[in-house]
Amino acid sequence: MNTKLFQKDFISTTDWSVEDLNTMLDLAFRLKGDFATGVTHDHILRAKTLYMLFFEESTRTRNSFETGMTQLGGHAVYLTPKATQIDHGENAKDTGIVLSSYGHGIAVRDCRTGIGQKYLYEMAKHADAPIFSMQEDVDHPNQAMADLMTMMELFGRNLRGRKFVISWAYGPKYVRPLSVPQSLVWLMPRFGMDVTLAYPEGYHLMPEVMEKARQFADEADVALTETHDMDAAFEDADFLYPKSWGPIMVTEEEAEVEAMAAKHADWCVTPEKMALAKKSAVYMHCMPVDRGHEATDKVIDSPQSVIYKQAENRLHIQKALMALTMGGRA
Ligand code: CP
Repeated sequence: MNTKLFQKDFISTTDWSVEDLNTMLDLAFRLKGDFATGVTHDHILRAKTLYMLFFEESTRTRNSFETGMTQLGGHAVYLTPKATQIDHGENAKDTGIVLSSYGHGIAVRDCRTGIGQKYLYEMAKHADAPIFSMQEDVDHPNQAMADLMTMMELFGRNLRGRKFVISWAYGPKYVRPLSVPQSLVWLMPRFGMDVTLAYPEGYHLMPEVMEKARQFADEADVALTETHDMDAAFEDADFLYPKSWGPIMVTEEEAEVEAMAAKHADWCVTPEKMALAKKSAVYMHCMPVDRGHEATDKVIDSPQSVIYKQAENRLHIQKALMALTMGGRA
């Protein structure tokens, strides 16, 4: 356990060691158990403030961070570019220095391609308070950690040898960033899982992300495989994580995006596809899920689906993050 995490930024899981991440998981399990039994923790962040800056909308992330701050005794402030001077051009440095002189943490969601993660690291360079990613264009670290927590609850802490499948799925409603599949391809090999990444041609992830993921897989002595065949990927899997993302490495032009996606409407998870995996396999999704496109209701509402557990665990993993990085010292 590493107890020296006070004031540490959490922009990517890749900035934290496996020991650090296990410390967050240990505390998250404890806080979840206490929440279930009515044990309160409103002393940990008493009188402390978290600023939550959203460049894009959110259901889970906003409400789990805000609720988490309440439960730890602090206060969360919801900010958008429009509600601040960011829309008038105030930069990450000035915003970060000022907000961190008032409060104790700044969380940012910024999924602008090629901009988001750089904005967070720029803010972190200047702000005195820890900076947390609430999802950007590259990574969604709190989602991936909540997912890992869910998997450990179901299969135990040792996940070595388990097959984890990240698959593209058809989701025509809007273009989703690459950050969720990228956060998973980075995190799961470090916890001993063999990872298979399936996607149609044109939907590859960022080359530098894949390079780092291969390095993590080599270091952990696990397999990292890429395929364009969803059915083959599903075979013998323990964890199935099919979700939509945009062909962002190829185009973000709306008409092209729609035309490309329409060719792959059969990348929808059905009970027949689920049957290719192990009987004990679980269906995962970060939500919001595009029902009837990414997966059928039969799959999403089946006993194999753990999507609501994943969403629930956002609260506990983020409480652990905030307690470790914002609490502890007066
Ligand atoms: N999974 C997730 O980040 O959900 P929101 O976009 O609702 O925050």
